[in-house]
Amino acid sequence: MQIEQIILSLQPNQNSYMQVFNNFSAIKQVLISINEEGGKTGFVPTMGALHEGHLSLITKACLENDFVIVSIFINPTQFNNLEDFDAYPRIVGQDLEMLEKFDDRVLIFIPQVEDIYPNGIVSQHFDFGGIENQMEGKFRPGHFDGVGTVLTTFFSLLKPDNAYFGEKDFQQLQIVKKLVAIQNFEVNIIGCPILREPTGLAMSSRNKRLNDSQLQESKLIFKVLKQVKKDFGTKSAKEIMQDVQKAFKNNTELNLEYFEIADESTLKPLQIVEKNKKYRAFIAVFAGEVRLIDNIALN
Ligand code: PAJ
Repeated sequence: MQIEQIILSLQPNQNSYMQVFNNFSAIKQVLISINEEGGKTGFVPTMGALHEGHLSLITKACLENDFVIVSIFINPTQFNNLEDFDAYPRIVGQDLEMLEKFDDRVLIFIPQVEDIYPNGIVSQHFDFGGIENQMEGKFRPGHFDGVGTVLTTFFSLLKPDNAYFGEKDFQQLQIVKKLVAIQNFEVNIIGCPILREPTGLAMSSRNKRLNDSQLQESKLIFKVLKQVKKDFGTKSAKEIMQDVQKAFKNNTELNLEYFEIADESTLKPLQIVEKNKKYRAFIAVFAGEVRLIDNIALN
C-alpha cells in the first residue's frame, strides 16, 4: 500500500480526518502498513493539556516524518505526589480540538492504563549513570523511573524512527537519550526549543492551574534566568546563587525549590568553568501547590 492509500484507508471522523486510537491493537495495524511501505514515523509523547509548546514538537515531527503519533497518557508512575497526579489537568476534548489543525498523517494514541501497565502500575528501576540523581531526581524521587518505564513501553510498542522531546524538561531529554542507549532502541531522540508565553513564562500544562496573581509573578522565573545568563562568566556560581535566592526571598507568590548551574551532559553542579563544556541554569519554583520548572543555556 502506498502512503497515500494508507491515508485514504483511514476512516474520517465527524469533523476532521483526525484518527484517534484508544488501544494498541487498533494503532498497530496502521503502523504495520506504514512500516511495510518504508514510511517514517515520528512520535511525540505527551500527558495532554496541550499547549503551543506541544504543538511545536508535533509541527517539527510532521516536517520530518511521513506519519506522526501523538500520545496522550497521564503516566501514574512518574508522579511522586498523588495530589499532583489528581490535580493534573484532564481535558482530552480540548486537546483533540487543538490537534484538529493537523492533517490526517497525525495519529492520536490515547491508551488505557491496562495497555501500558498490563501487569500492574509499577515502575522498572533504571541506572541512568547518575544523571537521574541530580535536580528533579533529588526532589521527585522515582520520577525518572516512571518516565523510563512508560517510554520503554511506548518505544517497544510503537517503534518510531524519531521521537521529539522539549528542552523545557532538559533533564528528561538527557534521561531519554540515556534510556535509548541502555535499551538499544532504534529511535533518534530530537530535542526541541522551549516555547514561552509573551511574559517569558515557559509554557506548561501546569500553568492552567495558576491564579492571576501567581501568573503575574511567575514572570520572575525567566527574568531571573536571563539575568543569570548575563552574569555567567563575570560572577561566580556562588554569587549568582545568592542573587537568585535574594530575587525570590520576598516574593509572596513564589517559593524557590532549587536553582542550579550544571554541566549539560553530566548535570552535575558547576565547580569550575571548563572550556568546551556546556552549562545550563536550572530552576524549580512553587507557585502555591503548582510546581514550575525552567532552564536556560548559558554558553
Ligand atoms: P508533558 O509534560 O505533556 O510534555 C510532553 C512534551 O512536551 C515533553 O517532551 C516536554 O518537554 C514538551 N514541552 C512541554 N512544555 C514545553 C514548552 N514550553 N516548549 C517546548 N516543549 C515543551 O514530558 C512529559 O509530558 C512526560 O514526562 C512524557 C514524556 C509524556 C512521559 O510520560
